[in-house]
Amino acid sequence: MAVWEAESRKMSGELVQGRNMAKVWIIGASSGIGAALAIALAREGHSVVASARRIDLLNQVAARSPRSGAIIPLSLDVRDRSALEAAAAQVFSRFGQLDYCFLNAGKYELSRSGIDPAVYAEVTRVNYLGVVESLAVVIPRLIHQGSGQILVTASVAGYRGLPQAGAYGPTKAALISLCETLAIELKPLGVAVRVINPGFIRTPMTAKNRFYMPFLIDAEDAAQRILRALPGKRFEIAFPWQMILIMKIVRILPNWLYLRVMAKLAPSPGTFDKPEGA
Ligand SMILES: NC(=O)c1ccc[n+]([C@@H]2O[C@H](COP(=O)([O-])OP(=O)(O)OC[C@H]3O[C@@H](n4cnc5c(N)ncnc54)[C@H](OP(=O)(O)O)[C@@H]3O)[C@@H](O)[C@H]2O)c1
Repeated sequence: MAVWEAESRKMSGELVQGRNMAKVWIIGASSGIGAALAIALAREGHSVVASARRIDLLNQVAARSPRSGAIIPLSLDVRDRSALEAAAAQVFSRFGQLDYCFLNAGKYELSRSGIDPAVYAEVTRVNYLGVVESLAVVIPRLIHQGSGQILVTASVAGYRGLPQAGAYGPTKAALISLCETLAIELKPLGVAVRVINPGFIRTPMTAKNRFYMPFLIDAEDAAQRILRALPGKRFEIAFPWQMILIMKIVRILPNWLYLRVMAKLAPSPGTFDKPEGA
């Protein structure tokens, strides 16, 4: 039995109701946190379907699995409902029953120059509506089986409005709110909904950041932290703790204080320019 499973049984009884191997679907598994998580889960003996758009990267993730066939690549775009529906049909027919579904796909754009509605729309389409589309195909099936966990990757960037996060931050705040709603509504039906709120993780997404990222950790480290938290029942999985502590304090600051502090910390030049001569 995998160490993780032994731990899980100690902490919360049966992790996957009497079976030794969890069946996992990760959407957003071609790089970064999702890829590291797929490999870590496969290493622990679990079966993973790894989804994202780039099949070449998914194949590479599958090839890095310590057990052949433990990671099955399945390409899809979360903006394409019919692709999601077809993928869900394949996942459930292959697995019979799904234990964990990670909705981890995301897109990150710094908002550096005004408001570009096209960028906002695209980030929202992937980060928020992509999760909504995924939920629409997964929830009815999990309700039907009467079990399973959905884990949505939001971010500490969803705790409060941050400078230059105009396109990205609100999608993550919306996900946190949506997860709270669904956790309440789906619990009586045997389906758990949890939110994953990472701080800064070293992935292709953050590679373009030119600013200092406090408490930055590797994607493999993030995957281990998620894995360790998986058997527990806490609604929120958040890490690293130093970043979370700071952001939780920031979250409860009164608005006047928060806005004053952040106005001082906001990068210069900011998102909006003063017009010439104004
Ligand atoms: N890195 C951080 O510091 C950090 C912090 C907080 C939260 N997060 C969140 O963590 C999640 C994973 O991010 P990451 O840092 O690991 O970045 P990443 O390496 O860029 O991974 C993003 C994943 O999302 C997939 N994806 C993007 N658009 C998609 C689409 N339309 N359909 C299907 N899949 C799509 C990508 O695959 P394809 O491009 O192949 O489709 C990739 O697998 C994201 O939701 C991100 O917002 C990251």
